[in-house]
Amino acid sequence: MTLWGGRFKGKLDQTAWVMNASLPFDQRLASQDVLGSMAWAGALMKAGVLSIVETATITTGLETILAEFESGDFAFSENDEDIHTAVERRLGELIGAVAGKLHTGRSRNDQVATDFRLWLLDEIPGLDSALQNLQKSLVEQAEANQETLIPGYTHMQRAQPITLAHWFLSHFWALQRDRERLLDLCKRTSVMPLGSGALAGTAFPIDREALAESLGFDMISPNSLDAVSDRDFAAEFLFCAAMTGVHISKLCEAVVLFSSAEFGFFELSDAYSTGSSLMPQKKNPDLFELGRGKAGVLVGLLSGLLTTLKGLPSTYDKDLQEDKVPVFQALDTLLAVLPALAGAIATITARHEKMRTAIDASMLATDLADMLVGKGMPFREAHGVVGRLVREAAEKDVSLEQQVVEERQALGLSEGDVIQCFDPLESVKRRNVIGGAAPEAVKVQLAKAKELTGWTG
Ligand code: ARG
Repeated sequence: MTLWGGRFKGKLDQTAWVMNASLPFDQRLASQDVLGSMAWAGALMKAGVLSIVETATITTGLETILAEFESGDFAFSENDEDIHTAVERRLGELIGAVAGKLHTGRSRNDQVATDFRLWLLDEIPGLDSALQNLQKSLVEQAEANQETLIPGYTHMQRAQPITLAHWFLSHFWALQRDRERLLDLCKRTSVMPLGSGALAGTAFPIDREALAESLGFDMISPNSLDAVSDRDFAAEFLFCAAMTGVHISKLCEAVVLFSSAEFGFFELSDAYSTGSSLMPQKKNPDLFELGRGKAGVLVGLLSGLLTTLKGLPSTYDKDLQEDKVPVFQALDTLLAVLPALAGAIATITARHEKMRTAIDASMLATDLADMLVGKGMPFREAHGVVGRLVREAAEKDVSLEQQVVEERQALGLSEGDVIQCFDPLESVKRRNVIGGAAPEAVKVQLAKAKELTGWTG
């Protein structure tokens, strides 16, 4: 039975039924739907709509339904259009006609928006901790690689030496912003639409403030028309998910490159790589490729929902039923990807020698210019001098260091200066500003990162 049958003589066509029904996906909102109804029954009682006895009967029925959902004993009927219909139908079976009083002054329009917000608020902590666990793996790698030298790249060209710890932590902070965004999203999600009715507000004297408090909402919606149509929280969540996807993708892309034979910087654990069905020698970074690939899906989910929303006038339109699947899919995707990547990152073996030998003397050209500046030469001039030395070294196919040794006296440098200048660890140590690559600065960064994740080793 539908909730709206009275107006109709004819029956919905089966194909229309299939297209219209949302139960296959919105059953995920089951417990929030029941809890929302319990609170609504309480509010109706306070408003003088339900008697104490009726409220108790309805509440007991809803408790049974909640228990059935929890034990997996709840039986859906083929006539259940959506989760709200299913709960109301079952309540009628359990307590009889009084069940019909529960929906007084309420619409599925304010009900579904309430359920969906409650659901998202319930899920955010789990996602936050999955993000935190990936952060912990990055912290663990940073802790172990504080003096491990690796080439730093810009434009994917060797630029300046950095430490591997600094590199791992660069990805940590992106995820930290993702976590902050999720926390911030809670503010706008924790707004209760219930009491907005279908669009114009309920006609019963519901104390919405008290109702919001009983459901754990921080605020109530200020406009009923907006309340039943506002899916900003869903779109924002999808942005958060897409942004995390992009961050993960960048990390994964770097790992794919660094684990190739051409770089040879990373060795992936067998537990997190796969082979080829044809080529016996292959060890493929599939998980990292998938981490990169899923970002495309996540971005698509965001753009899908925004497109759904863009043409809607205010209040409820059935298009809004399309809000749930992308949000569920985004969450499920991240909850599958994040734990696997946390393991895959934690078990990477860094090949120190490979990384160290990839740092060639030309990567210290900035250090040489800085050293000339230290001797009193204006930076612009020093940049030109070093540029010429780099060119001459390349023409002669010698290293920049060899070229500098040849011209050392003309450049006004001592032998010690040259050694100091071309030692990559010394170069990194010189970058001792807050947020810089120097091991001393990274120690401070690492301490903050540990604090944010509760990482204790
Ligand atoms: N299944 C619907 C949804 O998910 C519930 C709201 C239906 N409202 C309505 N007026 N038909 O959006």
